[in-house]
Amino acid sequence: MRELTDSEMRWVLDSLEKIAEKMVAVTERNRGIIPYTTVDGHFDDKSKADICWWTNGFWGGIMWQLYKLTGNAMFREEAIGVEEKLDANLMMTEGLDHDNGFKWLPTSVCRYKIEKNKESYNRAMLAADNMAGRYNITGKFIRAWNNWDNVDRRGYAIIDCMMNLPLLYWASEVTTDPRYRMIAVSHADTAIEHFIREDGSVNHIVIFDPYTGEKLETPAGQGYAAGSSWTRGQSWGIYGFTLSYLYTGVTKYLTAAEKIADYVISEIPESYLIPIDYKQPKKPDLEDSTAAAITACGLIELAKATHSDKADKYLDTAIKLLKTLAEKRSDLTKEKDNILENCAVDYHGEGHNMSIIYGDYFFIEALMKLDNKALKIF
Ligand code: GLY
Repeated sequence: MRELTDSEMRWVLDSLEKIAEKMVAVTERNRGIIPYTTVDGHFDDKSKADICWWTNGFWGGIMWQLYKLTGNAMFREEAIGVEEKLDANLMMTEGLDHDNGFKWLPTSVCRYKIEKNKESYNRAMLAADNMAGRYNITGKFIRAWNNWDNVDRRGYAIIDCMMNLPLLYWASEVTTDPRYRMIAVSHADTAIEHFIREDGSVNHIVIFDPYTGEKLETPAGQGYAAGSSWTRGQSWGIYGFTLSYLYTGVTKYLTAAEKIADYVISEIPESYLIPIDYKQPKKPDLEDSTAAAITACGLIELAKATHSDKADKYLDTAIKLLKTLAEKRSDLTKEKDNILENCAVDYHGEGHNMSIIYGDYFFIEALMKLDNKALKIF
């Protein structure tokens, strides 16, 4: 991968300085919360509304990354506050699912890597054990979601899970027990077989028969339609398969990440503003900035990992995505709590043109990756 040019590096450093200044002010006026989105520019508090919500680890992740960036002790205190609040979730089995990775990697695992404290280790191992227990032996997949709202989801697996696998890779590393890694690898192999399509696009959801493992259905999920291409799902695929390659060294995961990345690059619009689905109709022109930020993170890691001459293309694309977000879809003033604008939950729901906390997390992580300063949280 090429080095960043001087002007690119100046832009990265300048952006990170502005983000750090903004986030000191934002965090000072928002102590003790776990935000998900904003209302009129002010953070909500998911720790009160739903302590089991899948995004509740990202504020902790932002705090740890900013602690690394600035050394400001306030960020560490807030990160630990998030981790401690999540203990209530650890005691609610119906609120534990495959997203244990998204919740405890940016909190307990991150803190354990830095401080080696026993409480964080215990929390992270409880989360990993619970996640490992979701493995379906016959279908060779990790069950994604629970039967909330009385929908039978015993056979559901989703592409997003690729980002949760690092919790299992970490658990094998610290315990020296290969079972966690075996489960992660088995799920990743199933994902290659059943999620990635011929053209490099991916299914969001695959429903298997939970008894026989037979593949039954690939519904639209959060995308536009069955068979379409939900952009955040593609971004989870790029970043997630790259991570499985980095943890295992198994080349087929790198090949899978490149296949999805090459497809995504062929679909990115000239504006570099990312739609919610690469196959959505031209109007309405719905966008998802989270997909842009996550894609950038994945492409930066892929650019470093690949052995092919596509490395520079991956890096160039990541930088263009981030610059577009910075110029057109972000707010670095201290007035608003959020950074990214125009994020989306899904294509058909109500959650459009909003801020979402993981958009901000991955935007910060991507910029810090470009400066080689990011903590390895995933
Ligand atoms: N993991 C759920 C989502 O990306 O919306």
